[in-house]
Amino acid sequence: MERENIELRSTISDDGKLRVNLEPVPLAEPGKGQLLVRIEAAPINPSDLGLLFGPADIGTLTSQDGVLLAEVPQQALKAVESRLGESMPVGNEGAGKVVAAGSDLQDLIGKRVAMIGGAMYARYRLIERESCIVLPDDAGPEDGASLFVNPLTALGFVETMRAQGHTAIVHAPAASNLGQMLVRICKDDGVGLVNIVRSEEQVKLLRDLGATHVVNSSLDSFQQDLEAAIEETGATMSFDAIGGGEMTSIILNAMEAVAKRKMDSYNRYGSTTMKQAYIYGALDLSPTILRRGFGFSWNIGGWLLFPFLQSADAEVVKRMRARVADEMKTTFASHYTSRITLEEALDPEIARAYERKSTGEKYLITP
Ligand SMILES: NC(=O)c1ccc[n+]([C@@H]2O[C@H](COP(=O)([O-])OP(=O)(O)OC[C@H]3O[C@@H](n4cnc5c(N)ncnc54)[C@H](OP(=O)(O)O)[C@@H]3O)[C@@H](O)[C@H]2O)c1
Repeated sequence: MERENIELRSTISDDGKLRVNLEPVPLAEPGKGQLLVRIEAAPINPSDLGLLFGPADIGTLTSQDGVLLAEVPQQALKAVESRLGESMPVGNEGAGKVVAAGSDLQDLIGKRVAMIGGAMYARYRLIERESCIVLPDDAGPEDGASLFVNPLTALGFVETMRAQGHTAIVHAPAASNLGQMLVRICKDDGVGLVNIVRSEEQVKLLRDLGATHVVNSSLDSFQQDLEAAIEETGATMSFDAIGGGEMTSIILNAMEAVAKRKMDSYNRYGSTTMKQAYIYGALDLSPTILRRGFGFSWNIGGWLLFPFLQSADAEVVKRMRARVADEMKTTFASHYTSRITLEEALDPEIARAYERKSTGEKYLITP
């Protein structure tokens, strides 16, 4: 059967023009081990936006003949030098129906699958079987659309914590889609979790999910509240997706303040309590500021899902994927506020809305 594929592509030119458009792309027949999937739903996650718009100034978004255009500030071009002029497919993950399959996978035709692997903002995706989870018959496209990036990252945090001998986690910003999954995982697994949010609505949202420690960074009492929650949980590891500004520094200082209270005598080098902070996102693109009142027993690193999965034990990854499949409608359920077509994704007004990354406002592309 003749099928036409179109794919959403993002290109930044050498002179700083962002162009997002739909391109016809040839569709190969699936070989052994491959599935051809008609995409039904793909979420717009913050990491997708990083590729879709790069460092473009969202204030300059316009459209012409169905193509979304924006300006990239000259000083930001250096950071994206290696993608200049390249037409890049977007969309990390999604779900859809298998419409054709390699000779060894014919039994999967008609099944719905969740997928990871990029180029999901398209009508079809040719994909390796290993990059898919086959969904049960009662699962809809929205159950499967976001089953990789946020679920495996939230589980990955807990695995990282255990592997490094820590026992509780501080997380910011905690009301995100991922943060809500982490709340449910930590509750079920009995892991201490300190959730940092920035409004009282977000405090309520997480408390309603069963979170014990939720601290609001917009209150004057934030510092004390954070220290109290760290003291109660014993958290010495943090994950921060804000990245810019002082959040990681504030967390490390609070951990150190708690550790120092337990010391018998003054030590000018600070406590010996090892504090591990990870920055795993870039919601705030301003510089990361460290106010070093946290001694010398600390480490700050980056945390990214794919290198984590590559370095983790195969059995651990298998266990994580199985849990995601088992708990897709509970722990790892995602909620979407808007569903848009590929064409609507190129409307400047809609683009400005999905670019905001607000709590509980996740967009879903339904090609
Ligand atoms: N490293 C990895 O491998 C990996 C994997 C998955 C996800 N991530 C990252 O995880 C983060 C959450 O993803 P998600 O899909 O769960 O996001 P989401 O549901 O879209 O939520 C984004 C959250 O970030 C908050 N936020 C946005 N800008 C902020 C800022 N400047 N300061 C403080 N809070 C801010 C929003 O709160 P308001 O409503 O208050 O704005 C909202 O709660 C993203 O940064 C994403 O890139 C990283």
